[in-house]
Amino acid sequence: MIKKTIETALNEQVKREEFSSRLYLAMASWCEANGYPGAAAFLYRQSDEERMHQLKIVHYINDRGGYATLMPLPAPELNYHNLKEVFEQVMEHERYITSSINDIYELTLNEKDYTTGNFLQWYINEQIEEESSMSKILDKIRLVGDDKAGMFHIDKELEAMSAAPVSSATAAE
Ligand code: FEO
Repeated sequence: MIKKTIETALNEQVKREEFSSRLYLAMASWCEANGYPGAAAFLYRQSDEERMHQLKIVHYINDRGGYATLMPLPAPELNYHNLKEVFEQVMEHERYITSSINDIYELTLNEKDYTTGNFLQWYINEQIEEESSMSKILDKIRLVGDDKAGMFHIDKELEAMSAAPVSSATAAE
């Protein structure tokens, strides 16, 4: 049976992953409406991934005898100045998610819940990957600056990256 402290912390993470999904959906919509179809496809896919991250925690809490619950979510930002701002915010958000996962991991050590600690290892690895790929994208966007041809290529690259199936959340199972 999962401890109440761990259940509460994991339910907070369910909320954060759900918000991530909403945030990337809002960003994807902005990209689609503002002439960045590749970035839109990439962010729609990220939104689906976040939904998988959320679902994986929901199942875990319930499988351990807890109760996964949903909470009210704030509205995501709907307006952006440019693609650079979008990915800067993605980067900032992923860093926040990483630190929240690390906090829960620390709690599992304090509570001696090694099973949940083990479960969270997948998220720790996933965050390394996500931060690394977002940082590379942001570097490229910063490098091209206002160059329209460069931005066109980045958008094409993001489109190619979005072609991979959303399967990472189940890969570790
Ligand atoms: Fe679920 Fe992008 O972290």
